[in-house]
Amino acid sequence: MRFFTGIVLAALFAPSLLRADEARDKLIVETVLKLESFNYQSSSEKVKGAIGRYLTKNRGSEEYYELIERFRVESEVASLAKLASEKEVNPRAAALLVAIGGEVAIKAALGDSGSSRASFLMSLGTVNDPVAVEILSGFLKGKDKVAARDSANALAGSPAGQLCLLEFAESGALADELKNGVALALSASVDPAIRSRVSKALPLPSSLGGELLPPVAQLAQMRGDANKGKLIYMRACFTCHKVGEKGIDFGPALTEIGDKLAREALYTAIIDPNEAISFGYEGFSIETGQGRKLIGYLASEGDQEIGIKVPGGALITVQTSEIKVKDPLSVSLMPASLVATMSRDDLVNLVEYLTTLKK
Ligand code: HEC
Repeated sequence: MRFFTGIVLAALFAPSLLRADEARDKLIVETVLKLESFNYQSSSEKVKGAIGRYLTKNRGSEEYYELIERFRVESEVASLAKLASEKEVNPRAAALLVAIGGEVAIKAALGDSGSSRASFLMSLGTVNDPVAVEILSGFLKGKDKVAARDSANALAGSPAGQLCLLEFAESGALADELKNGVALALSASVDPAIRSRVSKALPLPSSLGGELLPPVAQLAQMRGDANKGKLIYMRACFTCHKVGEKGIDFGPALTEIGDKLAREALYTAIIDPNEAISFGYEGFSIETGQGRKLIGYLASEGDQEIGIKVPGGALITVQTSEIKVKDPLSVSLMPASLVATMSRDDLVNLVEYLTTLKK
């Protein structure tokens, strides 16, 4: 008996036979794709098996999506959710997931802790579908600030999502910390009606004296005076950033920021610091048993003690045994209100100065 099983297994796994199996599956798939009236749901287990194996083998390929789309292969919904959660935004996988699995599948994917929520939300944001928009907008009001921000970013990715953000803004329901980001995203919408409505509901953050700032793309066209900009830097930025040997070492050094960030990105970094937080500078709020409260980022983290860098540049060491609360901040340690302390010209001059900071 053993002997026979062995022979059968060996035969099954012989490379030539495997290839033959694959070739047969491929033939079946190519044939059914050509048949106009093929009905997947009522097809034989053998055909379904061949299609299933082919899908597993070609996950994420064009044929993969085509097969699922044509035959509405419900058993692939979990795989689609995974594809939509992997590193990059995947509009194709998300659209099929919503079309075939609907609300149930979206909720299941969100509940799956193994998947990357941020990528999944971004993928979902590209699906211009009321169910997807409804679920994303649910996060906007939620307690989870990171999810709220990810959802706002995702919603800005489709026309239906943009309308939803606009309605939140117009009804006053948009959380304060999301306003600058949403204003920036919607003021860059390709739809002039959205741009016009957002300019009323959610003016871009105003600079000193209540002057409204034009959209970032327009700011990036302007040129300023770098010497004047340096003075603004000394006033507003020096307390947290070094340029060369000068300044306080808290945020990342700006010595070569002109090489790293283009004009648009420099404007965004100042107007909406929460948009992208530099790696390693994520803020934490820490409370010790002695009632001491510290806000800063983790400069070192060991078993016995952690080092927290606080505004002003001091490095404070806390014994891990003393830590009572250690919560990540949902916002950047760089304040979003700095633009309100300068005029539009100050801002343009400041960015001009930053572009000169190069190797
Ligand atoms: C209270 C401290 C603080 C002040 C004041 C401050 N920043 Fe920052 N800044 C930070 C921190 C912390 C980060 C890193 C976290 C982040 O990326 O949001 C940062 C990040 C940045 C970045 C992104 C750097 C990179 O390498 O990507 C730029 C650009 C920047 N700041 C410019 C400025 C400018 C210009 C000013 C003055 C108008 C300023 N900052 C004022 C704390 C500050």
